[in-house]
Amino acid sequence: MGTETDLTIAEAQLVLFSPEGLIDEDLWHRAATKLRQEAPISWVDAEGVTPFWAITKHADVLEIELHNNEFLSEPRCILGTVESDANLKRDGHLVKSLVQMDDPEHRLHRNVTSEWFLPKNLAKLEGRLDELADEALEKMRAAGGEIDFAADIAMQYPLQVILAILGLPESDYGLMLRLTQEMFAPDDSDFKRDEDAMAGLMQTLMDLFNYFTNLTVDRRANPGGDLASVIANAQIEGNPMGDKETLGYYIIAATAGHDTTSNAMAGAMKALLDNPDQLKKLQDDPSLMGTAVDEMIRWTSPVKHFMRTAARDYELSGVTIKEGQDVYLSYWSANRDEDVFEDPFAFDITRSPNKHLAFGFGVHYCLGAMLARMELKALFGKILPHLASVEQAGDSALTKSGFVSGVKRLPIRYTLK
Ligand code: HEM
Repeated sequence: MGTETDLTIAEAQLVLFSPEGLIDEDLWHRAATKLRQEAPISWVDAEGVTPFWAITKHADVLEIELHNNEFLSEPRCILGTVESDANLKRDGHLVKSLVQMDDPEHRLHRNVTSEWFLPKNLAKLEGRLDELADEALEKMRAAGGEIDFAADIAMQYPLQVILAILGLPESDYGLMLRLTQEMFAPDDSDFKRDEDAMAGLMQTLMDLFNYFTNLTVDRRANPGGDLASVIANAQIEGNPMGDKETLGYYIIAATAGHDTTSNAMAGAMKALLDNPDQLKKLQDDPSLMGTAVDEMIRWTSPVKHFMRTAARDYELSGVTIKEGQDVYLSYWSANRDEDVFEDPFAFDITRSPNKHLAFGFGVHYCLGAMLARMELKALFGKILPHLASVEQAGDSALTKSGFVSGVKRLPIRYTLK
């Protein structure tokens, strides 16, 4: 990846946040590098979006994440359009999930499931993750040497895991796959439901709303040991959790746990194909899987950004962020920061330390980080030892989305042992 660019700052800003910019990885990194070097905290005032500060350096993203009382998730935790921001101001959130909450509300709601996501509980899932990895390998065997690794393996595996932890039937699999993809990529031609992305997103939300309302009724009547039962029967300070929040909880678990991990898996396979020396190293020494998985996550950074709003004037690296102004945290850019990562554009499965921010940081730190790592380990730990040869068999493609995105098509040709 060359870092020289003839982009202006204004052009680089547009590339940074627009869904179109995200589908050209080289261009995107040139733009982000330009901003890191020349305008790491830069005011973006572009057509169609409410102005915001683009934050591209690791240290600045970290500082904002750590100051959660000064930088709030409410009201604007992801980048929308001027129109969607106005709707949000008028109507509030249709559903409310952890990522949109601030303390003390956030802490109370996070406590509902934080124990469920602890390693000792997740360890119980290892057997199921292994079975699903076996199934993925068998699927590759049955496909006879060519498969779209992104669509047919990476998109499927984490969704099966989410269905398993929520305790949903396999028959709902297709529906959940479609709804989560629509939710995160309403602009992508492969996933969008309506020419008007906003209208499509509303239809998707209605379907999720109906589905999970029925699930709550069922789990309140028949509680079990699954995550859906924990959510449906949650108490907040002695009262049942509100409807909006209950729904938001299912949605964040189903969506945050799916597309993110899928994109990490697909992008990781692409990185291994593009760096055959790293693939060989990992195959020769599976004990490197721990560092490899974090490098896969740094490399792909499936969540491209979150936003925060300043609760008061704040001095950030010499720049005053005024009360009420929004900041856009670019995780992908932070994860290529030359000041933190040696040779940041090298995919190095032995990288250690690897202080990437792909899971965010601070009070909102990804609840599923441990689970995501377990999934990547289970899948690649199963497939790689059986891969006698593998190569890319056609063009890959990236999702057109400025929020959660990655490789959505990756045809591969392989032989298995
Ligand atoms: C490679 C995969 C994943 C990535 C890159 C990822 C990334 C993130 C990021 C960046 C955040 C926001 C952190 C912040 O604002 O500081 C987040 C929050 C969250 N993630 Fe993940 N995630 C992944 C997988 C998962 C999985 C598997 C689950 C669960 C099933 C999950 C559940 C959540 C939840 C519930 C939150 C909200 C936490 C809060 O606001 O307190 N994520 N994730």
